[in-house]
Amino acid sequence: MEAPLKVYKGLEGIYVLESALSLLDTENGKLYYVGYDVEELVAKSSYEEVSYLLLKGKLPTKAELEAFVEKLKGEMQLDEKELETVRLVSKRSSGMDALAAYFVLTGRGLVDDGSPMDQAIRAIGKAGSVLGNVIRIDGGEDAMYPDPSLGVAGNLIYLVTSRKPEPYQIEFLDDILILHAEHGVPASTFGAVVAASTLSDVYSSIVTGIMTLKGPLHGGASEAAYQQFVEIGDPNRVEAWLEKALSERRRVMGFGHRVYKIYDPRAKIVKAMAARAAAIAGGRVKALYEVASRLEEVALTKLAPKGLFPNLDFWTPMVYTAVGIPPNYFTAVFAVSRIVGWVAHVLEYWKDNRLIRPLHLYVGPPAGQKYVPIEERH
Ligand code: ACO
Repeated sequence: MEAPLKVYKGLEGIYVLESALSLLDTENGKLYYVGYDVEELVAKSSYEEVSYLLLKGKLPTKAELEAFVEKLKGEMQLDEKELETVRLVSKRSSGMDALAAYFVLTGRGLVDDGSPMDQAIRAIGKAGSVLGNVIRIDGGEDAMYPDPSLGVAGNLIYLVTSRKPEPYQIEFLDDILILHAEHGVPASTFGAVVAASTLSDVYSSIVTGIMTLKGPLHGGASEAAYQQFVEIGDPNRVEAWLEKALSERRRVMGFGHRVYKIYDPRAKIVKAMAARAAAIAGGRVKALYEVASRLEEVALTKLAPKGLFPNLDFWTPMVYTAVGIPPNYFTAVFAVSRIVGWVAHVLEYWKDNRLIRPLHLYVGPPAGQKYVPIEERH
């Protein structure tokens, strides 16, 4: 007898592609980009260098990095026409929608200019400058010219706050960008690769990635975690809040991961950053951190036995807040960073492209239903 057809819901445990970009060591709680421990990259590298690593598959020499950074700086510039497009998309939408809309509106022109690698570097450069301006406009300011000399992280903070950032702020955001740059094939990367497999273009893949990242089960978790800390409000209220939340079968946002059933290695790093951010910035960041720390402690007693631990989105709200990113833009910053992961996957997939076209198991009415004219239906 033939085995019954099986549907792999959520594609859980299914390998959908080969990739040399990241290794998720889910047994030892480690993450590697092209073989390099992400913890070491956070300590020693920059988002720009990590972008090179992911796009080219090796760490750059000094000269290679300088040339790459120069090219990226050129792409970070926005001319008056581009600023006008940012104003337009910001008028009609905000957040991730505005970022995606920018690439929808400009993609065609960008595609006609250069190789897919050039387009990838252009998108990485543009994204932070566009998002920084979208946040400015949402906050009631006018768009302004980027300052590429500050690097991707520093420029983003500069555009959002209108101030040259403190070195510690640049370091924090740069580290966050590195940690979000790549992570195998979560929903957004899979979406980007599916779009690419149709031989659509780099920007279409990025737009697909942005829109897929948006949901609260994926990139949207950091904002949801922030709102949860605000809702709890005080470390003394954590126990009561958690008991009620779990009894209502609510999820602790920032806890759990489809792949990690132990502590997310990125979360460990961001947790230490959040502690530093609370100590340096104090005030609101410290208040959020105190609630988060207590929630982690109490939630772990209930959730760790089920393999549920904090993921990086549990701790990022404190770091984002310390560098001046408003909560409704946390996920969009994640998108800016992950663009490199999406495009690196797209370029890798195109080396041996195969249209992604899975099957569905039909469970509807039997074939051959009689078509009844509309007047005779009831
Ligand atoms: N809080 C409480 N319980 C949870 C949580 C949580 N955060 N996450 C999962 N569970 C429970 C489920 O209720 C379920 O319990 P049950 O078996 O008693 O019904 C069990 O754990 C398994 O849950 P699934 O949804 O099947 O696990 P899945 O692998 O699909 O979940 C996910 C992964 C979506 C991340 C989930 O843990 C979640 O919703 N977490 C909160 C949102 C979040 O933090 N997302 C960020 C992910 S990281 C990233 O995208 C960067």
